Amino acid sequence: MSGIRISARINGEQWAGQVEPRLLLSDFLRSEVGLTGTHVGCEHGVCGACTVLLDREPVRACLMFAVQIDGHEVTTVEGLAAAMPGEAISVEQLHPIQRAFHEAHALQCGFCTPGILMTAQAFLRENPAPSRDEIREAVSGHLCRCTGYHNIVEGVALAAERLAADGEGEP
Ligand code: FES
Ligand code: FES
Repeated sequence: MSGIRISARINGEQWAGQVEPRLLLSDFLRSEVGLTGTHVGCEHGVCGACTVLLDREPVRACLMFAVQIDGHEVTTVEGLAAAMPGEAISVEQLHPIQRAFHEAHALQCGFCTPGILMTAQAFLRENPAPSRDEIREAVSGHLCRCTGYHNIVEGVALAAERLAADGEGEP
């Protein structure tokens, strides 16, 4: 394969290898790294399903090339919880934001959920005590065909409460 050598930190692990210059970050994460929690919906930046953190800021992985992560740090939804890839995980091992979504019934089919969780994590780091309107604005870049959004807003609000009350630290 004619590729470009890159190295990046992905969910805390160093990754190095060759990638094709035109390979999208979303396809790279799913097919080259095996992180299929990053979902692909619209593939043109509208739905938010592919959202990951690049240097702790949310980005649309379908709008970036994999080569652009060279020298940077990427976090996917798999990086939120404590399990190793492929390992079974209990609710207690989930990230506080994931647990809050679970408790608030903030997902149904779950297709939109990984992207929303990544946005929520970055959002709560910037704004640890948001209003419902601020949460609505924060998740407004994500399309969900199932929930009607109400419980997603409640899930983020519950996560904020838990993080503050439990002293679970930075999201
Ligand atoms: Fe990237 Fe929809 S798949 S925004
Ligand atoms: Fe199904 Fe959001 S829970 S798309």
